[in-house]
Amino acid sequence: MNLTPSASSVVEGPSAPVTVPRHVAIIMDGNGRWAAKRSLPRVAGHRAGAEAVRRTMQAAVDNGVEVLTLYAFSSENWRRSEDEVSDLKGLMRFYLERELGTLQKEKVRLKLIGEPAAFGNELYDRLQKAVAETASNDRLTLVIALNYGSQAELAAAARALAQGARDGTVDPDTIDIGAIENLLHTRDLPPLDLLIRTSGEVRLSNFLLWQAAYAELHFVDTLWPDFDEAAFAAALAEFSRRQRRFGGR
Ligand code: IPE
Ligand code: IPE
Ligand code: MG
Repeated sequence: MNLTPSASSVVEGPSAPVTVPRHVAIIMDGNGRWAAKRSLPRVAGHRAGAEAVRRTMQAAVDNGVEVLTLYAFSSENWRRSEDEVSDLKGLMRFYLERELGTLQKEKVRLKLIGEPAAFGNELYDRLQKAVAETASNDRLTLVIALNYGSQAELAAAARALAQGARDGTVDPDTIDIGAIENLLHTRDLPPLDLLIRTSGEVRLSNFLLWQAAYAELHFVDTLWPDFDEAAFAAALAEFSRRQRRFGGR
């Protein structure tokens, strides 16, 4: 992944030309508050959130987005109760089984970032299997961030470079931006164009800190379970109106 301006596709719409972001990432927040508003347990919010994932993935396919990266579980979410973590793992397992057919039908390639092995062998093996089975799909790349934390990702990159320097395989003088990007989990993905966060919180919560350097940011009050095709289209429309400069004029 690099930060040079991405060649977002320009689609001629009925009025002004529309620029479609190649890579969209979403901090899917607000499941708990959605449930609380309805006096439901938090797990009901997570379940409704999974339906929003389904809708959003379809909207990304329909709009010609190349990569959709979703923040599903942060490296800090282990601070939640054991019950909630267990519910989230159960939902991941359930939706993975249920949606594998949809991924194949829509030609969606699944990819993981973060440290998903921490979820235990059973879930990790299923995830790996889904990644392998969808590897040749070429319509949308759906990246799920599981046990992901940007600071840990950058620390691991620093560690790898330092070890290389110690072993003599890395010349410290040659460490540049590209050398770091090649060690990030997103190395095979196009630059991040648009980062969306739902639920009214205006922070990044340790998500894609490096990658967001020149991403357009879009914060909406909508709680994640209420996010739908129209909300996704509104974010794309807003992106299309932005003028990206990458430090130029
Ligand atoms: C996002 O919703 C889902 C995860 C972080 C797994 P939250 O569970 O954070 O919902 P709120 O922020 O408490 O409303
Ligand atoms: C960010 O949401 C993580 C995910 C959406 C997976 P959080 O709800 O964990 O973030 P904070 O704690 O409000 O910053
Ligand atoms: Mg939250």
